[in-house]
This record gives sequence, C-alpha cells and structure tokens, in this order.
Amino acid sequence: MTSSYDQDEMLALLGWYQAMGADAAVGEVAHDWLSRGDEAPGAGFSLPKREAGSAINPSPAPAALPAASPSAPRPAAVRSAGTVETGRPRAATPLGASEAETGARRIARSVDSLDGLEAALRDFDGCGLKSTATKLCFYRGAAQADVMIIGEAPGRDEDLAGKPFVGRAGQLLDKMLAAIGLTEADVHITNIVYWRPPGNRTPTPQEALACRPFLERQIELVAPKMLVAVGGSAAKEVLGAAEGIMRLRGKWREVTVGDRKIPAIATLHPAYLLRTPAAKQHAWIDMLQIKSKL
Ligand code: URA
Repeated sequence: MTSSYDQDEMLALLGWYQAMGADAAVGEVAHDWLSRGDEAPGAGFSLPKREAGSAINPSPAPAALPAASPSAPRPAAVRSAGTVETGRPRAATPLGASEAETGARRIARSVDSLDGLEAALRDFDGCGLKSTATKLCFYRGAAQADVMIIGEAPGRDEDLAGKPFVGRAGQLLDKMLAAIGLTEADVHITNIVYWRPPGNRTPTPQEALACRPFLERQIELVAPKMLVAVGGSAAKEVLGAAEGIMRLRGKWREVTVGDRKIPAIATLHPAYLLRTPAAKQHAWIDMLQIKSKL
C-alpha cells in the first residue's frame, strides 16, 4: 500500500477504518492482509508464552457472580460476542478461559485493598484485551461508595485516560447521576472488563470471565449498598441473566458476592441513549428506582 494511493485516498481509507471501529494501532508493523491470499487473518498468530513462575492454580473455584454472555450497545459491525461480523476469526486470549479465571481468583483473593487489586491487575496477563489496550481502566469515583456502577468495557477515551466512563457516554452517565443528586464522589464506577476491546467490540465471555474474580473482589472491597449494571452485557454478567436489557432493566434483583447479598438493578447504556434519545424515559424511571432505594 504505497505510491498508488494519493493523500486524499489514504485519508479516505483511514476515515473508513475509523468508521468501522479500527481507530487505534494494535501493532508496530502494518500487515498487508491482502497479500496473504486466502489465508485467514490471524492464522499463524502465536500466543504470548507464559513466564516461568506464573503457573495458574488448577483447582477450580466457584464463581459468585452468575455467568452470562455479553451483549452490548455497540456499532453493528462489531456487535456479536463470538465473532466479529466480518466472519473473521478473532485472536485468542493468552490463557484458556478457566485457567485465566482460576488464576485471577487466586490473585484477587490475595489482595486486601483497591490499590493492591489495581497492582494485581497490572501484573495480570490472563485477559487478552490487555495486549491491545493502551491503559488499564480500573475505576473512577469514590473508593468506598453506596452505589457501584458497572459498565461494559472501556472505549477509546477511557483507554487513553485510564479511567472508565470519561467519554461522551460517561458525561451522559454523570448527568443521569446528577439528576438523582449523585456526584462522582458518591459512586464507584467500573466495567466488567478492565481493558478496551479493539474497535470497541463487545468483550467475549472469556474476557469477562478472566476479569470477573477481580470485579467480585472489587465489589467486596468497595462494599456498595447496590450495584447498577449499565447496558446489556454488564446486565447479563452482573445479574447472570440471559434476557435482553429491555427485559432486565428497572427490576431489582439480588446478587451474591462473597458472603453478601447485594441489591442490583440494570439500566440502559448511556451510549445507547445518545443514539436513541427517546429511550431516556426508561432510563429516568430506573434512576428514580435507584434514588428511592438510597
Ligand atoms: N462504555 C462503557 O461501558 N464503559 C466505559 O467505561 C465507557 C463506555
């Protein structure tokens, strides 16, 4: 891809990539996939080697939050959880899902503070998203809070800032919270995965599973009075339900985390509300539920 393209064509191509969600370089070397003929992108991709000493404890531990597969308010081209809708295979996570979860659970259990949990996440290589993300996005807001908000995954702005919900969706989330009298200092905001999925695709169930022990430990350390899942994939992951967000939203349930039962509710994702302002009426009803519970 060189001299046969003029500058305008190159800019148009870049614009197209960006519109398709490919808005960040994930490698230092550009690959000319067209030169590979029929070979699928990702074929021959080798997984990073595990370092000696990072052996994963093989004893399985039960997950406290119920398992669920994600679905999310994402652009159509990247919406499906298992396969990007181009039909291309995705790169695998560095560890098998259960290996990663077991290792994560052992590590997460060993820490007693949010700082310790953050340090453990920085060292954790069991979630494949880490290799393409710029920064870890752990949390924003108060370390201890009555309300813990759990979204789907960092996007581009969050990946650059290293904090969840700082982009346009985050600004709307802040307005929604302000409408019921809450500021950033009153809430703890995080996501079901701690690194940005490439192209803002939905995190895979494996990626969510690898992060879940950390999320559960985070919930224990924050000790919120309620969990608010934001968007379809967070709702499924947190509530352990298979239904879509329109069915899940606005109803209180109880989830067990460690030895606590915590009330949890789901609401619509602010990114969806930005695209579908008419749906704000539903989100407002959910926010009022949260307010009255407080
Ligand atoms: N959307 C999310 O679900 N989480 C973020 O942190 C940002 C956008």
